[in-house]
Amino acid sequence: MKVLVAARALEVFEALQRIEDVEYEEALFTGQIYSAIPSCQLIIIDYEDLVEHPYDVRMIRELLAESNVRTYSSEEFLLDPGKCIREAEIRPGSMTRLPEKYTVGFVSYSGGTGKTTLALDTALHFARQTDKHRQASLPVMLIEFTYGDSALASILGLEMPHLYDMATKTDVDPIRFNGVTLIPMDYDNCKLLSIDLIRNYLKRQMANHVLTIVDSYWPHGLIAAVKEDVDRWFVVGTPRLDAIVNARKLKEELGSEAGVVLNMMDSITDNLALAGMERALDLARLDQVDRFEGKLGRQILAHIYGPAWQEFEKRAGKFKWPWRRSGRTGKDD
Ligand SMILES: Nc1ncnc2c1ncn2[C@@H]1O[C@H](COP(=O)(O)OP(=O)(O)OP(=O)(O)O)[C@@H](O)[C@H]1O
Ligand SMILES: [Mg+2]
Repeated sequence: MKVLVAARALEVFEALQRIEDVEYEEALFTGQIYSAIPSCQLIIIDYEDLVEHPYDVRMIRELLAESNVRTYSSEEFLLDPGKCIREAEIRPGSMTRLPEKYTVGFVSYSGGTGKTTLALDTALHFARQTDKHRQASLPVMLIEFTYGDSALASILGLEMPHLYDMATKTDVDPIRFNGVTLIPMDYDNCKLLSIDLIRNYLKRQMANHVLTIVDSYWPHGLIAAVKEDVDRWFVVGTPRLDAIVNARKLKEELGSEAGVVLNMMDSITDNLALAGMERALDLARLDQVDRFEGKLGRQILAHIYGPAWQEFEKRAGKFKWPWRRSGRTGKDD
């Protein structure tokens, strides 16, 4: 039995030392707790003791409420430690690791290269796959930086709050669409706000999400609000000569954290134009990408998380929580 102690009370450690066959680990940072969730059967947690890095306490509270790992406060645990241990669910082996916190941006000088398509497909696929594991998807967010009207709202055909209202009014929250938190931009309003205000709002949102995806025109007047938080830039190009030249230029500008994704590759692509061009990923031109079934997103996620993501997907369909909604098959794409 593995127990995680996310509390400062020394009595908890003393009690655990007196119980046989219990392994325990201490974690006060929210990020440590997140990482430990898959391998623990019991968590003793005093929320007021936590250090909010990099997630906020609300997110951890929600994850734990959905995960069915037994949780007790130190006070509850100390009432009868032996009983708490006995009551903790016996979980079937340890699960794969959860994906790490990450922020990725899709950008390009050229229009129409597929930034929004890739951003949405990646976000929706992440939500679907993590949902198979946990039956409550890990939080993923899509932030749009656009000029003019929101492409996100028009592609999805959804009425939803836009960034200006969310950042300036405390009672306006983003919507969740199929497990993805959406932050569409109304540029004409947002340009009236200070970058700091937008940055502070988006940082608070990022602290509630495991994966944050940015879809941005480049250059964009407000991108400084998230620039320092982006771990990896995907410069999206297509095999058109001008798009290739632009992608190369932008990759150089963004430096070592940037990689080129060549999208909409097909068999007649002029290989000469691509000769010697270093890129992170090639993505084929596919039919019906607007269904967002994850064929593109899967490849992006495998690139971000490496073989761990493939392993995660492979297990996602098979892994069943034995004590929840047993009728569920896990097939949703
Ligand atoms: N891999 C793909 N295969 C087929 N069609 C694609 C692919 N990727 C994108 N598309 C299509 O290309 C068009 C442009 O895509 P998208 O709107 O995502 O580009 P964008 O870079 O966001 O454009 P903008 O610069 O206007 O924001 C859309 O019709 C989209 O469905
Ligand atoms: Mg777009």
